[in-house]
Amino acid sequence: KKVVLAYSGGLDTSCILVWLIEQGFDVIAYMADVGQEEDFAEAKEKALKLGAKKVYIEDLKKQFVDEYIWPAIQANAIYEDRYLMGTAVARPCIARRQVEVAKKEGAQYVSHGATGKGNDQIRFELTCYALYPGVKIYAPWKIPAFFERFKGRLDLFEYAKKHDIPLPVTPKSPWSMDANLMHISYESGVLEDPKAHAPKSLYQMTTDPVEAPNTPEKLEIEWKNGVPIKVTNLDDGTVKADSLELFLYLNQVGGKHGVGRIDIVENRYIGMKSRGIYETPAGTILYHAHQDIELFTMDKEVRRMKRDLGIKFSEQVYNGMWYSPECEFTRHCIAKSQEGVEGKVQLSVYKGNVYILGRESPRSLYNQELVSFDVQGDYDPTDANGFIKINALRLQEYARLRSMEAK
Ligand code: ARG
Ligand code: SIN
Repeated sequence: KKVVLAYSGGLDTSCILVWLIEQGFDVIAYMADVGQEEDFAEAKEKALKLGAKKVYIEDLKKQFVDEYIWPAIQANAIYEDRYLMGTAVARPCIARRQVEVAKKEGAQYVSHGATGKGNDQIRFELTCYALYPGVKIYAPWKIPAFFERFKGRLDLFEYAKKHDIPLPVTPKSPWSMDANLMHISYESGVLEDPKAHAPKSLYQMTTDPVEAPNTPEKLEIEWKNGVPIKVTNLDDGTVKADSLELFLYLNQVGGKHGVGRIDIVENRYIGMKSRGIYETPAGTILYHAHQDIELFTMDKEVRRMKRDLGIKFSEQVYNGMWYSPECEFTRHCIAKSQEGVEGKVQLSVYKGNVYILGRESPRSLYNQELVSFDVQGDYDPTDANGFIKINALRLQEYARLRSMEAK
């Protein structure tokens, strides 16, 4: 029996690794580098010492940006009007590669350390089933023999001591974190009380806006097909044109200015509400800039339909349905809508905010002559009278009915 385990190097998945071996599995440890800060070499050594037959460390950063984050930016993807979905977008990317490793290794099983109460198990497992239909999933936190043995962290510690699993050197923070290059999320532990304020020290990607620089920084973002292709810092001249590099650069500038923090209560797919804190600096800058260039270049009615599709897309992705026929369909339509979304947006970042300053585009539908109050142009203002009168008909009829009813 071969299993590919999504391994993080932490205590939980280390115990899972050893436990899987005890269950008679040959364990292949798989680590996805999606931009989280991690000593991969050290984790690899650790996994091998614990008995993993092989360790895969896969650098997925570039494909994470190009194939997962960019479609989300094109969609203006946002869950429940607040959450930019850094975790939800990363899961299908991570699981896709894991399944490829499993196929390559001839492993029937895949395993992960997500709990039975969260969204991640759903995203992870749905992606695996979609891309490797015959796969068997071995998720210890949902197997009674495992979760009845490991009721709390103390049980994990005890097991670790018994099996020479190195204990974490830094004390575990009193919340759960998920980090990648798009965001860091924090939830559970002391954050479970929704009225408890997050300690200042929680945030790792962004400066507290209060302590952020007192002068704004100006950026220009160039777009093509609804995707950023170039970022220029208008203050110091820095230019980034590679997708991964420009995303990391926006994280750096946005983070310095405290952009992209939110603290929310959200609805998990599984049915419960949960409290989460997120920091998504580059994602937040791009979300605002993309909406601006899109509104500037896209037809009004197309945009309305596309906005609804974006909401659908967000729900599909949040619920782990990236590799579903419906999500394939929404992505296809959204990509089509982005064909004319190009141009440049100038903005500034300042004390946690993104301010749009201006935009230009060769494909804009904006017609300065048409809109100007100073020029007559090819527009007959007397037409507006009829337009308004026809629209008013319904309102007048409604008023007539109400006045009759009042009598
Ligand atoms: N609530 C967020 C989501 O569902 C973040 C999940 C974070 N995952 C984690 N393992 N800490 O996308
Ligand atoms: C987990 O349950 O492993 C994390 C929380 C979530 O997936 O929502």
